[in-house]
Amino acid sequence: MEKKSKMQAEKHLTGTLVLSVFTAVLGFFQYGYSLGVINAPQKVIEAHYARVLGIVPMDRLATNTSEEDGPIPSTIPSTGMLTPPEDPAASPHVLTMFWSLSVSVFAIGGMVSSFTVGWIGDRLGRVKAMLVVNVLSIVGNLLMGLAKLGPSHILIIAGRAITGLYCGLSSGLVPMYVSEVSPTALRGALGTLHQLAIVTGILISQVLGLDFLLGNDEMWPLLLGLSGVAALLQFFLLLLCPESPRYLYIKLGKVEEAKKSLKRLRGNCDPMKEIAEMEKEKQEAASEKKVSIGQLFTSSKYRQAVIVALMVQISQQFSGINAIFYYSTNIFERAGVDQPVYATIGVGVVNTVFTVISVFLVEKAGRRSLFLAGLMGMLLSAVAMTVGLVLLSQFAWMSYVSMIAIFLFVIFFEVGPGPIPWFIVAELFSQGPRPAAIAIAGFCNWACNFIVGMCFQYIADLCGSYVFVIFAVLLLVFLLFAYLKVPETKGKSFEEIAAVFRRKKLPAKTMTELQELRGGEVA
Ligand code: GLC
Repeated sequence: MEKKSKMQAEKHLTGTLVLSVFTAVLGFFQYGYSLGVINAPQKVIEAHYARVLGIVPMDRLATNTSEEDGPIPSTIPSTGMLTPPEDPAASPHVLTMFWSLSVSVFAIGGMVSSFTVGWIGDRLGRVKAMLVVNVLSIVGNLLMGLAKLGPSHILIIAGRAITGLYCGLSSGLVPMYVSEVSPTALRGALGTLHQLAIVTGILISQVLGLDFLLGNDEMWPLLLGLSGVAALLQFFLLLLCPESPRYLYIKLGKVEEAKKSLKRLRGNCDPMKEIAEMEKEKQEAASEKKVSIGQLFTSSKYRQAVIVALMVQISQQFSGINAIFYYSTNIFERAGVDQPVYATIGVGVVNTVFTVISVFLVEKAGRRSLFLAGLMGMLLSAVAMTVGLVLLSQFAWMSYVSMIAIFLFVIFFEVGPGPIPWFIVAELFSQGPRPAAIAIAGFCNWACNFIVGMCFQYIADLCGSYVFVIFAVLLLVFLLFAYLKVPETKGKSFEEIAAVFRRKKLPAKTMTELQELRGGEVA
């Protein structure tokens, strides 16, 4: 009875905690929005590029000549470069190049900035850092929103690069802040909200991108720049959020301020237990000294945790999930689905619903088992998808098999491999190495995302219906790795998690001695 009420107290959600977490994950909402927004209006924006660049793409021009844009120029206004429309090979090539750049420069921005997360988060504090980087999002979105007023292709590429910089920083700062303000008992559930914010962003961008809403020749700049509104909202709400008590206590040694912040976040709960926990972490951090990215790789102390942190990111991205999000319309077409655009939105809806479900699952079932179950389900779905695609020419009903398999693939992703990598890295490391670890994990995630986005289409052309066999094999490898190496972090304090890795490194004999000392406790 007493234990139950203690648990309830530990799970107490105060208004300030809700506000802080909501405000922070608005950064992830923008990430999801920018990820998804570029798909639907591709044809309309390409046609606009063609007009601005003076290119006449044979297959794309017919549907998109708007008077407002004037006659087709024969030079690229921004560069003055001559692009002769009569050269049929050059025109689509230049257009494809500008389009690919517009899509992928976002991930490049993310890769670059994710490296600076630790530095900026420690230097300014979590809240101030989020406030400052917000400016990047506002500028990036403004450039895209005003793209029609200048050389659109340049403005969009610059805008997406800058938004990418923002999202890279945000994808590190937000989990850092959320994990540090959450009570241990709610850390998983609140951590899952990152993924929920991403998938909501993707879904909203997919819906707004429909051609009768904003995905048309008139409205696409608004569509691209709209996540600036979320940035503005985040900016003002951040002014009301308390700084992370862990940052105040452990980094700055401001005990009173940390207590104040904890009081705001936890309401009437006694802050002393958490303060004691932080004190332990602080001593741990003091004995560790500050850990740089280089030291993370070279010190054997962190090796296990670094490998796990990187592998969960690699598993998330090389599971093939973004092959579905970037190219689902194409995949559905191949699978013989009638209305591929709506099927894509269906994927967005299923994705969101199951992320909500996993918010509740993650504190019940634990991270490790959900991660394993998710990978296993994705593996089976990838096999089913391949069977469906390969046998489609023989049995028309196989299109249903592929479609259901795609939905299951996404569902299993959201059960574990989607949300868990976003917050488990913050859990795997104590205060000293945490910022550096989050930076390298973020970089790894963005780099893998970029690779899948760039290569999938080429590999799909090469492998045809068998393309998901590659992901199935990779998923099997990730499953084995996770089974052997990923520890359970649910309900453990940061200090206890660090101890799990320390114990793993000890020789078997010492382990037995330790277990005896602890009365049989197994790590
Ligand atoms: C995860 C991935 C992201 C992906 C999304 C799909 O957040 O990091 O790349 O697009 O899940 O739901």
